[in-house]
Amino acid sequence: MTHTHEAGALHATAGVRAPSWLAPPDDVNTLVPKLWSQGVVRTAAGELEVAGVGVTELAEQFGTPLFVVDELDVRERARDFARAFASFEIFYASKAFCSAAVIRWVAEEGLSIDVCSAGELAVALKAGVPPERIGLHGNNKTEFELRQAIDLGLRRVVVDSFDEIARLRALTADRAPTRPLPVMVRATAGVEAHTHEYIATAHEDQKFGLSISEGETARAAQELAAIPALDLRGIHSHIGSQIFDTSGFEVAARRVLAEHAAVSRALGTVLPEVDLGGGFGIAYTTQDEPSSPQELADGLIAIVDAECHALGIDVPHLSIEPGRAIVGPAAFTLYTVGTVKPVVVSREASRLYVSVDGGMSDNIRTALYNAEYSACLAGRASQAPPRLSRVVGKHCESGDIVVMDEFLPSDVHPGDLLAVPGTGAYCRSMASNYNQAPRPAVAAVNDGDARLIMRRETVDDLLALDLG
Ligand code: LLP
Repeated sequence: MTHTHEAGALHATAGVRAPSWLAPPDDVNTLVPKLWSQGVVRTAAGELEVAGVGVTELAEQFGTPLFVVDELDVRERARDFARAFASFEIFYASKAFCSAAVIRWVAEEGLSIDVCSAGELAVALKAGVPPERIGLHGNNKTEFELRQAIDLGLRRVVVDSFDEIARLRALTADRAPTRPLPVMVRATAGVEAHTHEYIATAHEDQKFGLSISEGETARAAQELAAIPALDLRGIHSHIGSQIFDTSGFEVAARRVLAEHAAVSRALGTVLPEVDLGGGFGIAYTTQDEPSSPQELADGLIAIVDAECHALGIDVPHLSIEPGRAIVGPAAFTLYTVGTVKPVVVSREASRLYVSVDGGMSDNIRTALYNAEYSACLAGRASQAPPRLSRVVGKHCESGDIVVMDEFLPSDVHPGDLLAVPGTGAYCRSMASNYNQAPRPAVAAVNDGDARLIMRRETVDDLLALDLG
């Protein structure tokens, strides 16, 4: 049951202050480098520029809202992971940002690709990635998806349930692949990653994986090993997303390696692979301090070496699956401000509501996870004092918030361009058509050149789906 009350009485003074981590900046025009891709600068004239292309030109050429991806930044992040984790196989988690161009860039930089649906697989194939460099995930893979994995000869399938094992048994009995299909068992390591509940995946009470502590991982491994058309490679664990606290990875790696050793012993054969998943955090706001790929690699490798030594086993072939850390910081969303409304929230304070031409349809993360973002004026610099603002969208929901709290210059006005950094991951890929909003275009910028890699949806695209 819900209660209504006169507006203002309960909420009037709540939340008008900036959160403790957000201080008014000395200069609202200053860019905090960790939030932006390497190609972003504010020019002497005050405009944001990425890889030599100004945002005003991007907005004029492609319209807003627009995702702007810095190609070199994506490539360098992929390269940094490849360099730091040189002995690992790295699967780019394509769910973070799934477009043929981006997948092609990271594949060119030596990464394999992780997909979790027939749709993502189709995009990876469109990008020209060979099937033997594509892994398939999913807690409820369809028969069609599993058949594709078998027929195409994917690099591996990460198995998530006993029903899936039964499905694989039946499908491979029908048509044995020419070479056995590599499979891994998705294990839940029982780790509580300190991240939002909906993006934590390795504690017990959620839908992914098979429990180590309940003996399910071992039982699944036994069942998979008994299917002749499958090649059981090892154990997989992914503890969640946007994780900074490496102790979560540490505990999970320990449990997974111990299970790997135990399962190998039980099967009488050494399983060759272990996957430690993705989840490496990025900076969305000044409060986030992500580790570099090298720091992550040094930490993980030390843990794995020590653990394998203690278990008396050789270090298996290792893989990881970063998504966000490859593409997240490499893109920003460019919006046009439509309305600016000071909203009085208490006798002493008001907050500036800055409405942009997108919102929860191109960034659902704020509403879904209470994610925090940053924003800045992009088309010009301003000498006006900073004012606590909230960037909101144009959708019919009061929860349609893009940036909860940010200091924007107090002279922000309709027609201004606004940029929200760190939107390369899970924004375009989780975009919706709520309120029949056509999903934004994606422009890639490289060395003074801008081109569309995903075109903007049109209302005609939407009407074409409506059969009247
Ligand atoms: N591997 C597996 C098995 C995964 O499920 C995921 C993400 C990744 C790797 C990549 O995680 P990353 O390195 O990108 O954190 N949509 C949410 C996060 C859920 C992601 C689901 N799986 C978000 O917007 O934060």
